Amino acid sequence: MKIKEKLQLFTKQKRGLLATNFYNLETLHGVLKAAQELNEPLILQLTQSSIEYMGLDTAVKLGRAGLRQFGVEGWLHLDHGGSVDLAQRCLDAGFDSVMIDGSELPFEENIKITREVVKRAEQYGAHVEAELGYVAKLGQSHARQGFTQPAEAKQFVEATGVDALAVAIGTAHGFYKKRPELDIELLANIAKVTPATLVLHGGSGVPEDQLQKAISNGICKVNLATEIKNIFMQTLQMELAGNAEIDLRKVFPKATGQITELVKGKLKIMKNSSDVEIVH
Ligand code: 13P
Ligand code: ZN
Repeated sequence: MKIKEKLQLFTKQKRGLLATNFYNLETLHGVLKAAQELNEPLILQLTQSSIEYMGLDTAVKLGRAGLRQFGVEGWLHLDHGGSVDLAQRCLDAGFDSVMIDGSELPFEENIKITREVVKRAEQYGAHVEAELGYVAKLGQSHARQGFTQPAEAKQFVEATGVDALAVAIGTAHGFYKKRPELDIELLANIAKVTPATLVLHGGSGVPEDQLQKAISNGICKVNLATEIKNIFMQTLQMELAGNAEIDLRKVFPKATGQITELVKGKLKIMKNSSDVEIVH
C-alpha cells in the first residue's frame, strides 16, 4: 500500500502510524526489529543532517534493504526538508514521501514553497507533508506559542494540495522541561475542516494518554526521534564505561535492543486510542 493510502486508512481507523528517525545501521535495526516483532508498519525518516552523515544513496539503500531484511511494511520519508532542492534530490533518490518545512516563513511564502514541492512530487507519485504553526525546534524557546489555527489550516491545504500537515498543538522537539498539555479541542477543530493527514511532531516525552487522545482526535502520523537517540546513547555510554572491548560489533547490540523495547512500547500506544474521542 502507498503511504498516502495507509495514512488515510489509519486516520479512519483512529490509529497512529509511527515515524521514527534513524541515524546509522544500529538505530535502523533497532526500530525495524520492533515493527517486525509486532507486525506493524513504520515510516523511516531521514533529516538533512542524517542524509549528510550517511550520504543520500547509502541512506536510501540502507533503509530499503532494512525494510526487506526485517519484512516490515514501511516507507522512506524526508523529515523537515528545508529547501525545494533537497526535496527534489530525495524524490530523485526514490523517497516515498517528503516534508517541506516552511513553518518559519510567512504564511504566503510557506504556501508557495509547499505548492512547488507538491507539484514536483506529483510526477513521482510521492506524498508531501508540510508544517503550519510553531513547533519549537531543538534549542528554540518552548515559551513562545504559535498554535495552528483551523481556518488557516483549511486555507493552506486548499491552496497547496498538500497530503499531510504537521500541526502546532502544544508539542516541541526534544525533551520537555514541563509536562506538555496538548490542545485536543483545537486539534479536533483542525481535523474537522481539513482532509489532510495530521502529523504530530515532537513525539518524545508526550505522555501516553495525550498521545492516545491526539490520535483519536485526528492525529495519524506521530514523529519520534529524541527518545531513540537518548536511549541508544545512554545504554551505549553505560556499556562502554570501563569496557576495553575493541570489537565494536559487541558493544552495540544492547543499545539497539533498548531502542527495540522503546519503539515496541510506542507502537502499542499507536493502536489503542479509539476509546477517548472528544465528542462535540
Ligand atoms: P522528537 O525528537 O521530540 O521526538 O521529535 C521528532 C520529530 O518531530 C521529528 O520530525
Ligand atoms: Zn519534527
